[in-house]
Formats: sequence, structure tokens, C-alpha cells
Amino acid sequence: MNILLTGGMGYIGSHVAVVLLQAGHRVVLYDNLCNSGIGVLARLEQITGKTPVFIQADVRATKTLADVLKDHAVEAVLHFAGLKAVGESVKKPLDYYANNVEGTVSLLEAMLDAGTRTLIFSGSATVYGDPHYLPLDEAHPLSATNPYGRSKLHIEEMLRDLSVADPLWRVVCLRYFNPAGAHESGLIGERPMGVPNNLMPYIARVAAGELKELSVFGNDYPTPDGTGVRDYIHVMDLAEGHAAALAWLVRHPGWHAINLGTGQGYSVLDMVAAFTKASSRAVPYRIAPRRAGDVAACYADPGKALRELGWQARRGLLEMCGSAWKFQNLGA
Ligand code: NAD
Ligand code: UD1
Repeated sequence: MNILLTGGMGYIGSHVAVVLLQAGHRVVLYDNLCNSGIGVLARLEQITGKTPVFIQADVRATKTLADVLKDHAVEAVLHFAGLKAVGESVKKPLDYYANNVEGTVSLLEAMLDAGTRTLIFSGSATVYGDPHYLPLDEAHPLSATNPYGRSKLHIEEMLRDLSVADPLWRVVCLRYFNPAGAHESGLIGERPMGVPNNLMPYIARVAAGELKELSVFGNDYPTPDGTGVRDYIHVMDLAEGHAAALAWLVRHPGWHAINLGTGQGYSVLDMVAAFTKASSRAVPYRIAPRRAGDVAACYADPGKALRELGWQARRGLLEMCGSAWKFQNLGA
């Protein structure tokens, strides 16, 4: 298939590109590089031996995007482009609505213009808000606690409205839990700009000696060891989930939401222990106050992905930590 990945040079998009290129698809990466670097392209070539098309442009450039969709006879779009830092979204909400919501409207207009109506959207488990029950299935009530989460929720609703209005659309919102790790080569991975907000990239830099210690945000949660519990999913499992969703979507018109998680929760201290083991380095930490907006525990019911897509996560914590450590030393 001819497939366009908006935000395809970023962390998740680049791993999905590897899986799609290796499966023989023709891939167009469309990215304005606001949170990624051109070096990713050479790394993708090194891993796959194939050269994806790269277009440096913004998803809000509707005409450019429509032309690219037509020029490359694109049959499906995977929409990763967007901003994703929760704290920043609270300070600059308009940036998030402009990039994420307006960016998606622009993409949908371009797709309509080009006659492409198959879309996979990068959703987030953040749309479940504070869990009413665990594990989280797709029927759990939706809510948002910050502008980033609200932008994800608005986009899901917009996509559903569109599918109701025009039954020719095929849309799946994949709700990611906590993506972690890197490609096994260590050549691509997560490279946040500045000091990382998220746990895994922060731990990697502490292990490397670039940051002094990890602050564990709270050890008085109602969890087995008192620290926050999350569903960490290997980014390559996540990438394979996209390939499975794409194959499935061809046979399933309409709007769908599917969790991509493992169903297994791990605490912050579990992650510290796993990273220490995988890297053979110490990860010093101190207990700090809870972070505002954090929930005690969040993990998926991954049953729908298995039933519908025939997909489930296969890789464990050590592979997540080992590959993240390899990327820290080789790729970052
Ligand atoms: P990322 O920042 O590494 O990748 C996003 C890419 O999109 C970057 O390469 C960036 O340059 C590009 N981009 C941003 N705005 C753009 C625009 N207006 N036009 C063109 N390109 C643009 O982030 P990621 O971790 O790969 O996340 C990908 C998607 O998955 C995002 O939509 C994010 O909200 C969602 N998501 C990520 C996580 C996570 O933990 N990483 C969790 C849930 C959902
Ligand atoms: C965060 C976002 C979520 C977003 C996701 C992926 C918040 C409140 N939520 O999820 O909306 O979809 O990232 O981008 O920001 N932790 C520490 N010390 C640290 C960093 C994290 O103890 O330095 C703990 C957190 O308290 C949490 C766990 O590690 O218990 C995971 O945190 P993080 O990686 O930031 O992910 P989420 O908060 O789950």
C-alpha cells in the first residue's frame, strides 16, 4: 500500500515506518521537524535498506498535504503529528488546539480533496481521565483534565462525527498506554528535547550519569509499593499494532477505538529495578511529592485488540529497558 505518516519522523512514527517498510509498503513521511531531526531518515535507511519519501511541511498546509496525497496515490494515512507535553499544554493551550485539532481538520480536508478516507489516529489513554475502574476498556467513560487530553478527545469526537456523516470513512483511534523502549538496533528511539517529563527517558539519562537522580513522584498511592502504576508498552509492539490495525481497517468501515496496551501494570520502582538490571548501572532516586494531575494506576484491558486485530504485546520490561539503554548509548 501507499501510506502517508504525518509526524513520521517522531518517536512512534519512525518505529511504525520501520515495520511498514519491512512489510513492503511504500511510505511517505510528512513532518515539519518541530520535534524531530532529519537524521532519522538515514537511520531508517540503515535499518530497513529502503528509502522512504520525506516531505518537510506542516499538516496545517492543507493544499501542500492534498498535493502530496495525490502525487503519491496515498491509500491510507497514519496521523502521528501533534504536540504531546501535558505541562506545556496547560501553559500554551492555543498551541495545542492549533497544532492538534486544527492540524487534524486540515488533514481531513486534504484527505477529502484527494479521495483518501482511511485513517489511523494516535489516540491516548489520557482520554479515560481518572479511572473509574481497572483495567480500562474502550467503554470506560471519557474525560480530559488538561488541554493536551482535551485536544485528543475533541479529535476522537470529530472523527466519529465525520464517520457518521460519510460512511465511506474508515477510522481507528488507537489509544496508546505508555510507549517505552526503542528499536532493537538502538538507532532510533525517544529523544525528548530538554529535560524529559516522562519516566523512561528520564531514567535513561540518570543511568547514563547525565542527570543526578530520579524524583519518584509520590510513594503513598494505594498501589503495592506506593508508587504510580502504568501500562508500559514496547514501542515495537505498538508499531506492529498499527500494521495489524491497517490490515483490519480495510475490512471494517466506520469509526473504531482500540486500546494498545499490555494489560500489565508496573510501578515506578519496578521500572527503576528493570532499568538497573538491563543497563548494569545504578539509578539513584529520591522520593518527591506527588505530581499534580497524576493518577495512582492506569492499565489497559487489551482484549479488543486481540479479538479484533489478532494483536497482542509480546515484549517485556527488560526488552523495553535494554533497547532504551542501547539507544541512549548509540543513537541519542
Ligand atoms: P513526537 O513528538 O516524537 O512525534 C511527533 C512528530 O510530529 C514530530 O516528529 C514532530 O516534528 C511532528 N509534528 C508536530 N506537529 C506537527 C505539525 N503541525 N505538522 C507536521 N508535523 C508535526 O511524539 P510521539 O511520541 O511520536 O507521539 C506521536 C503521537 O502519539 C502524538 O500524536 C502523541 O500525542 C501520541 N501519543 C504519544 C504518547 C507517548 O507517550 N509518546 C502517548 C499517547 C499518545
Ligand atoms: C504522561 C501524561 C499523559 C501522556 C503520556 C505520554 C501526565 C499527567 N500524563 O503519562 O497524558 O499521554 O505521558 O506522553 O503528564 N514519574 C516519576 N518521576 C518522573 C517522571 C514520572 O516518578 O520524573 C512517574 C509518574 O508519577 C507516573 C509514572 O512515572 O506514575 C509515569 O509517568 P510518565 O512517564 O510521565 O507518564 P504518564 O504520567 O502516565
